[in-house]
Amino acid sequence: MIIGVPKEIKNNESRVSATPAAVSSLVKAGHTVKVERGAGTMSNYSDEEYEKAGGQIVSSPMEAWDAELVYKVKEPLEEEYKYFRENQIIYTYLHLSANKSLTKAMLDSKVVGIAYETVQIGRSLPLLKPMSEVAGRVAAIEGVHYLQKTKGGAGMLVSGVPGVKPVHAVVLGGGVAGTAAIRMLAGMGARVTVLDIVLERLGELVDIFGTQIETRYSNPVNIEESVKDAELVISTVLIPGKKAPQLISEEHVKMMKEGSVIVDVAIDQGGSTDITVNNPPTTHDNPTFVKHGVIHYSVANIPGAVPMTSTAALSNATTGYLLKIANLGWKEACRTIPELSLGVNIAEGFVTYKNVADDLDFEYTPISKLL
Ligand SMILES: NC(=O)c1ccc[n+]([C@@H]2O[C@H](COP(=O)([O-])OP(=O)(O)OC[C@H]3O[C@@H](n4cnc5c(N)ncnc54)[C@H](O)[C@@H]3O)[C@@H](O)[C@H]2O)c1
Repeated sequence: MIIGVPKEIKNNESRVSATPAAVSSLVKAGHTVKVERGAGTMSNYSDEEYEKAGGQIVSSPMEAWDAELVYKVKEPLEEEYKYFRENQIIYTYLHLSANKSLTKAMLDSKVVGIAYETVQIGRSLPLLKPMSEVAGRVAAIEGVHYLQKTKGGAGMLVSGVPGVKPVHAVVLGGGVAGTAAIRMLAGMGARVTVLDIVLERLGELVDIFGTQIETRYSNPVNIEESVKDAELVISTVLIPGKKAPQLISEEHVKMMKEGSVIVDVAIDQGGSTDITVNNPPTTHDNPTFVKHGVIHYSVANIPGAVPMTSTAALSNATTGYLLKIANLGWKEACRTIPELSLGVNIAEGFVTYKNVADDLDFEYTPISKLL
């Protein structure tokens, strides 16, 4: 199969889908890999390393997209839609519930869209996990950073000092990103409250963190009580493939102290606060805005800030499935690997993932009908 690795073009997106090691595995399996010149530079991989691994360096996005399978990190942007062609496989994060124009472009061109974020085994999302591990950690670092007075925040040190209270950090959603955020916040000495709707998950978190954290069942009353007392809120809620639930209202924000910080990690699924939903996602160039005296951080590609870590972590997770798709073709790969079939959001002009179809008002066609 001919596989293309384009350079990412989203604002400050420094990751690349394939490391040279991934290219080497694909080439050894008999595939051709075209890597756009400079695609790996920001992740510290040179064109020479890709060539040594057996990849072909191509000079333009058009050549990288001229492939049977396009291996990416972020969702295609509008200027990339023109490269779509029938039956081309696009293997990347898609977050379609938050993006009707991309969904339409993919349906019209009859590409096959395999979304990393909906590949699912039980409760686990193995291709979202590595980036949620990164995003949760960075969210905690950014949150405490913006709490400094010099950054416009309330002027609190996360741990406090002996005799002075620490920051109260509230984490909504105790999944992968939430747990990663808790790990950092508890390690830095914050007082941490975590809310989730899955009691079993809250139990697991107590087993991991013991008395370092408080847990609350996520309902409107507990959310309001926790959020209004917090100086830092990190929202990491997710219902796979669906638009994020909007849990923090504008009224909640008004109840928070001046200079508090909200990091909406769930912004890539549309956002989980009234305010972030109604404002475009922010970028690494300009990551925050202030509303009702509260700093909102809503960058949709947080892991792009730490590409040396993120690229390796993502490529480690995605390459195994990619090899199966390239070796067997997408249909046979989906027939033999059930979790991969859940990743197919669009195929042959149909929406094949129910939550995306429901959120965007498209007809839903089960993937089983196409396999
Ligand atoms: N902004 C970024 O750059 C970036 C990067 C990586 C991941 N993400 C996003 O982070 C989010 C979390 O990803 P994850 O891998 O941790 O998912 P996950 O499935 O591991 O965790 C989500 C958690 O949210 C909980 N939840 C669902 N509804 C809830 C509610 N009403 N109240 C409280 N908790 C609720 C679930 O029970 C689950 O424990 C996703 O939206 C993902 O796309 C964003």
